[in-house]
Amino acid sequence: MRKIHVIGIGAGDPEQLTLQAVGALRSTDVFFFLDKGEVKSDLTGLRRDMLEAHLPEGTYRVVEARDPERDRSAGGAAYAGAVEDWRGARAGIYERLIAEELGEDETGAFLVWGDPALYDSTLGILEEVLDRGTVAFEYDVVPGISSVSALAARHRTGLNRVARPVQITTGRRLAEGFPEDVDDVVVMLDAQQAFLRYADQDVDIYWGACIGTADEILVSGPIAEAAPRIERLRAEARERKGWIMDTYLLRRNPKDR
Ligand SMILES: C[S@@+](CC[C@H](N)C(=O)[O-])C[C@H]1O[C@@H](n2cnc3c(N)ncnc32)[C@H](O)[C@@H]1O
Repeated sequence: MRKIHVIGIGAGDPEQLTLQAVGALRSTDVFFFLDKGEVKSDLTGLRRDMLEAHLPEGTYRVVEARDPERDRSAGGAAYAGAVEDWRGARAGIYERLIAEELGEDETGAFLVWGDPALYDSTLGILEEVLDRGTVAFEYDVVPGISSVSALAARHRTGLNRVARPVQITTGRRLAEGFPEDVDDVVVMLDAQQAFLRYADQDVDIYWGACIGTADEILVSGPIAEAAPRIERLRAEARERKGWIMDTYLLRRNPKDR
């Protein structure tokens, strides 16, 4: 039976690779790298560095494939359809990789940024491949340090206040409104700087870009003061690198609800 590890590799700092993840790397014959356009060289390079740091040369293979682009123009009702189509296309690629590039008795691995449980589709896609029934395999999941954990650690803060909830959401959702009944909100996948909408409210922001990498930028404080700084630093970093990954915690003063 083919085996697959889905390995969380941390949010960018190679030292966030856990001992369990290193153990899983060592038991892998074939690594599948799916590249994503502009972030390709940086992220693929980082993954290669991790393998070289922990595995003897010549003991593993790397197979690269192109991740299909999602139709990002689709909004409203078409959005779910676009995501569905994209998942289907990715499942086809994973299915082919596993069937053609992994021997019957071999172990393959997908290295997932951060933790596979958070805004990552690898597990859903593997289930879809299994449902198709064309190739059989077993898989396990190795948790990783998510960008959310890394953000909280770098700002030396907790995510929730005492006995209070915290919600993790996307920039797209935050742009629609601050979640009801929750005052601590972690935002990921925000291409539109949705936090700007709350710049006149009694909210603190803990923001981090490229956390754990040499390009890391951290800003925190009352949002009215921090937001213009974040806007500027974000634009500069995007200009310099061509892409940016940022995550932030918004902490609202309850009376502003
Ligand atoms: C597709 S999600 C993947 C999340 C990942 N599974 C995790 O556990 O962090 C990508 C989003 O994660 C966040 N992210 C990932 N790495 C980051 C980093 N090094 N610094 C800041 N944010 C990061 C950003 O919000 C980015 O838009």
